[in-house]
Amino acid sequence: MAIISGSFAQTKTTEKIVYKDAKAPIDQRVSDLLKRMTIEEKAGQLNQLNGGLFTGPAAKDAGQKTKMQQLRDGKVGSFLNVLGAKETKAVQKIAVEESRLGIPVLFGFDVIHGYRTIFPIPLAEACSWDLKQAEKNSAVAAKEASSAGINWTFAPMCDITNDPRWGRIMEGIGEDPYYGSLLSAARVKGLQGNLNDVEHIMACVKHFAVYGAVEAGREYNQVDVSRVMLWNKYLPPYKAAVDAGAATVMNSFNVFEGVPASGNKYLVHDILLKKWGFKGFLVSDWSSFSEQINHGYAADRKDAALKAIQAGSMMDMESKVVIDFLPQLVKEGKITVAQVDKAVARILYYKFKLGLFDNPYKFSDEERENKTMFTDANRTEARNAAKSSIVLLKNTNNVLPITSPTKRLALIGYYAKSKEDMFDFWIGNGTANDAVTIYDGLKNKLGESAINYAAGYNADGTTNDDLINAAVKSAYDADVILVNVGISGKMAGEDRALANPVIPDGQIQLLKALQKTGKPVVALVTAGRPLILTKINDLVSSIAYCWILGTETGNAIADVVTGAYNPSAKTVVSFPYAVGQIPVYYNHFNTNRPDPTDDAGNWFSRYRDIPNDPLYPFGFGLSYTTYKYSDLTLSSNTIAKTDKLNVKITVSNTGKVDGEEVVQLYIRDITASIIRPVKELKAFQKIALKAGETKELSFTLTGKDLSFFDADGNAKLEAGAFKIFVGGNSKDVLEKDLTLK
Ligand code: BGC
Repeated sequence: MAIISGSFAQTKTTEKIVYKDAKAPIDQRVSDLLKRMTIEEKAGQLNQLNGGLFTGPAAKDAGQKTKMQQLRDGKVGSFLNVLGAKETKAVQKIAVEESRLGIPVLFGFDVIHGYRTIFPIPLAEACSWDLKQAEKNSAVAAKEASSAGINWTFAPMCDITNDPRWGRIMEGIGEDPYYGSLLSAARVKGLQGNLNDVEHIMACVKHFAVYGAVEAGREYNQVDVSRVMLWNKYLPPYKAAVDAGAATVMNSFNVFEGVPASGNKYLVHDILLKKWGFKGFLVSDWSSFSEQINHGYAADRKDAALKAIQAGSMMDMESKVVIDFLPQLVKEGKITVAQVDKAVARILYYKFKLGLFDNPYKFSDEERENKTMFTDANRTEARNAAKSSIVLLKNTNNVLPITSPTKRLALIGYYAKSKEDMFDFWIGNGTANDAVTIYDGLKNKLGESAINYAAGYNADGTTNDDLINAAVKSAYDADVILVNVGISGKMAGEDRALANPVIPDGQIQLLKALQKTGKPVVALVTAGRPLILTKINDLVSSIAYCWILGTETGNAIADVVTGAYNPSAKTVVSFPYAVGQIPVYYNHFNTNRPDPTDDAGNWFSRYRDIPNDPLYPFGFGLSYTTYKYSDLTLSSNTIAKTDKLNVKITVSNTGKVDGEEVVQLYIRDITASIIRPVKELKAFQKIALKAGETKELSFTLTGKDLSFFDADGNAKLEAGAFKIFVGGNSKDVLEKDLTLK
């Protein structure tokens, strides 16, 4: 008897709890855990709460228990905005030690371009055309964030946009789907690695989908795009990021075909989950589930939860409709347990995959946090990234670089000395104090006595006679005038839409006064978007477009200004000629009456007051040297659909200094069953060329590069005439004809 009860007791105490067994396969651990969970606990896994700073309107919390009590009750699967090893550890302790099943929480945060060491804004980084550097930048961001307990970032943003009025253009990839796809994938790889160590974190592909097409660039505005545009223009970068293994995807705020993205079955279920086979999990954007009510699509909060879950959406960021209504919806038979389990299983999978069940505090390590933040190595990467993001748009008489040590510089501009303006809105856990201003950077390089500084304008871009006179006075003592114009860094990011993305009038007045000194004027433009530069273009000799470069701004700009670094960036967005031209982008369609080049006649698709072309086109950027393109050759002028086409081009550095050039290959499908853009980027190479050096480059195109999507998302490769172009920007190219049989 004793033996029997002994053996019974033994069986009981050694019963294996599979989900707690680190050696069991993840799938088994997930299904074991699911079996033990109540429907309320499952809803809890789909609930994400804000733990710190707000990046959206506060949801109604009335009558709810404190967040930590909700966590204890198993009603929170993830927090966003809880930062720091100490803080995340304390919160995690409640989840794993005080909740019934001890399920760890995920900590998400917007690490958009760095956690503590702040890199250039993503749009600027994109202009480097350096995918390896972009991957490295994301890896540094992940390393810093992960040491502060963060295991999930809401990046990269893969939204194509053509609208500089939209404040979030700064967060993205520019206007090209091909390049945007490569860049999005590189960013995912940098953030995630193989997701099997403590230095990488989950990425989140956002905002799915078509958020960049908000009408008139106004934040949270309506979107209305066709399926043809969806497939060909907007979806490729999200798809590339998903294919790169992104663990999560975020719904967007906007509608597609009249249905909010969070409740949009076509986007979420049909495309993302079914057609693309995405295996990770989805998170809503901030309260985007409940905002379906404002859109006029969901009747109330319960209906919002139903519509989101039915579409295939999963975790609810901050609208709390899932935690409040999912159990009821299941009881009423409107949502099945199987549907819920599918979503919860994916979230649990990643908690296991990250190792949180076996070592819940692995990301919250104060010692590592202290060692990892803002190191010299991280700052070096940020400086490399920043200097390779600066686009030289104009450089008459080679005013830049300023190589002579005897030249005196005037540095004018309020922002040039404002640490805060080296940053935008999305600065992770960066602090303005860390930033090297333009003034500091030049001073570090040239010494304080080489620079006469004057503000020239106020923080808001306005000016007055005193400010202008003081600026002109410092300019008279100088050989070259550097003027930092643009708009405050704080005007870049979410909810920073501008109807007029222009250089402020006060700064134009200032430039006019400075121009009268007769000295060369260099504009260093800082902004999180391409501003309309038409009014200043003729007032200055040189324009270096510096975007927002983050912590190392000043050092990077000093590298470029002094020629220590030869600019190699090319813009990934067109610079509009005027506001009325927006949207303007290189990969537009031809229209029935294209603008005639010879300017003759009437009844063409054009403006009467301005050119059709942007001021600076996609892919454009100068260097301190010059390049010559010659000998474009195709392996054949006619190919079959299964053939490969080899394209050769010779590029020479015809100037006096070494440089790097982004060689771009575009195609045009002349006639197709669905009209195709006048140019589409299909390949590029960033190459180093020593002064006087010539290189022959070779590109290979396949049928995939010549194909497009129909409205149902099927790839089409159609016989007919094509053009192949190669050049240093989207406008100045050599071309050849190709026939596809
Ligand atoms: C933004 C997202 C962001 C989220 C969390 C939202 O307002 O649209 O991009 O990840 O807030 O901060």
